[in-house]
Amino acid sequence: MHVLVLGGTGLIGSAVLEELKARGHGVLALARSNASAEKAARLGAAVLRGDIARPEIWVPALPPVDAVIHTAGDFDSNMAKIDRRLLDVLLPHLAAQPLKPRFLYTGGNRPFGATGDAVATEESAFAPLPAFAWMVAQLQRVRESDAVDGIVIHPAMVYDGSGGGVFRRFGQEATERQAVRVVGSESVHWPLVRHDDLAALYALALESAPSRSIYMGVAIDAFPVGRIARAFARRFRTPHIEPKIISVDVIAAERGDWARGYALDQRLSGAKARRELGWAPRSLDPETEIAALPDR
Ligand SMILES: NC(=O)c1ccc[n+]([C@@H]2O[C@H](COP(=O)([O-])OP(=O)(O)OC[C@H]3O[C@@H](n4cnc5c(N)ncnc54)[C@H](OP(=O)(O)O)[C@@H]3O)[C@@H](O)[C@H]2O)c1
Repeated sequence: MHVLVLGGTGLIGSAVLEELKARGHGVLALARSNASAEKAARLGAAVLRGDIARPEIWVPALPPVDAVIHTAGDFDSNMAKIDRRLLDVLLPHLAAQPLKPRFLYTGGNRPFGATGDAVATEESAFAPLPAFAWMVAQLQRVRESDAVDGIVIHPAMVYDGSGGGVFRRFGQEATERQAVRVVGSESVHWPLVRHDDLAALYALALESAPSRSIYMGVAIDAFPVGRIARAFARRFRTPHIEPKIISVDVIAAERGDWARGYALDQRLSGAKARRELGWAPRSLDPETEIAALPDR
């Protein structure tokens, strides 16, 4: 397939791009800077220059595609407006293509809110923190659009094999502080997935998911955040193995309101993707992966 990837230089998007190339798909990546264009080209993509905040500039130049995978975004407070305008311009353009394309939209674990001991699935109601509330209407819009065959992937908290993604802060604090900080409590649970496992799910969904379907990209339903912090402290010989507990207000003041998501105690199930798409994530033991990280 010929696939447009938005965010193809990011943690999720670059893994998706590599997976698509490995499976023989053609990839066109949107890039908003020279550095992003060079990275996308290095990963084997053709490059379309453009910014998702200014879709009217690059969307008219978009050649026909079989699919769009949207993984672009940041935690900018304008993200709601940017994403709405992107769809306002992109969906009518795609509707005018001779063949209806597939459109994979990236949701997330955070729209599901704290689940407590319950396990959220694709059928569960949303309960987003205010910083993520805008996304709910976008998810519905993509799935219900007649312009595309919309599919939603909800990734868990994503890490990569070099201690990046949601593990990055733990690694930094393990080497720079007396103790790794944990927001709320050590027993807060996070759903987890490694970037390359998640990319395999995007590829499977691209190739065979039914239109309007939803999949959780969750390899590990719930992992106690205290065990992640302790694994980093052990690996990098942090003076105190026991994490320092900080409040959600402290992390929000430091990083922004979106960081309140760190304190969400969540259990999410990736069973539907395993059952329906044959997804088989391989990375299921993050503590062993953390123990094997190289020195910093
Ligand atoms: N990481 C997670 O744990 C996680 C979990 C659930 C959901 N998500 C969602 O998944 C999406 C991607 O996450 P990620 O971790 O892969 O993020 P990331 O590593 O920060 O990558 C973001 C990507 O979006 C691109 N981008 C951002 N703003 C853009 C703009 N205005 N125009 C064009 N490109 C733009 C970036 O391009 P540049 O290279 O130019 O910066 C980069 O390629 C986000 O919406 C996030 O909320 C992430």
